[in-house]
Amino acid sequence: MNRRRPLLAGNWKMHLNIPQAVELAHAVTAACADCTDRDVMLAPPFTALASVALALQGSSVLLGSQNVAWEAQGAFTGEISPPMLTDIGVHMAIIGHSERRQIFFEDDAMINRRLRATLEFGLIPVLCIGETLQDRESGATFTVLEKQLRGALQDVVPEQAEQIVLAYEPVWAIGTGKTASAEQAQEAHHFLRSLLAGMYNKKVAESIRVLYGGSVKPDNIDILMTQADIDGALVGGAALSIDSFKRIIRFQ
Ligand code: 13P
Repeated sequence: MNRRRPLLAGNWKMHLNIPQAVELAHAVTAACADCTDRDVMLAPPFTALASVALALQGSSVLLGSQNVAWEAQGAFTGEISPPMLTDIGVHMAIIGHSERRQIFFEDDAMINRRLRATLEFGLIPVLCIGETLQDRESGATFTVLEKQLRGALQDVVPEQAEQIVLAYEPVWAIGTGKTASAEQAQEAHHFLRSLLAGMYNKKVAESIRVLYGGSVKPDNIDILMTQADIDGALVGGAALSIDSFKRIIRFQ
């Protein structure tokens, strides 16, 4: 295994009401009571963030949001600003998820603004990138990944870049039960790390954690985590049940 500290993150998407979210958060803290060699992060829906923040108090489990605005305040109906999130104890913000890109038309420029705002306000961005099935089948995977990475990291300096978490989430693997094979994921992660080395330097590239996301389950986490450039997972469906998420946290 590599030197980077593994990060297992649950993206709860638009699921769970407040009591359900608090119950699951408590179960995750119990499952993580002896996790000293890995980080665990939960990203509940916005309505449950404050309650989950309380549930996580005193535990090492980190709190994440599923998106973040690029301004501190103002006329941005429907958005939540970085200081509003840090106020309630949020540490990380997922940015550029493929569902935001596809359903809500977020583009690289908007994702770049969100990402720079998280860094400015002391949140750690979890930047998601990934190709569609059509991209993969037409041989455009690496071109698409490079465009998304360069677009999101425009004007981000090396000292800032070092702090980000990257998540490779092939769109065709999200919620489909079709995971990328460990080799396919490793190939993409290695490509991204090489790109980062060229855009910044080797030190930055080696320190950034690159998570895999897309149908991560108890039965594929172990093999994914054996790969040199896979530093953790961003988990959707399997993060909604404590049994499956616990097994993922406790990958072997
Ligand atoms: P699934 O694990 O449900 O495929 O979702 C992955 C994802 O989109 C995490 O952000």
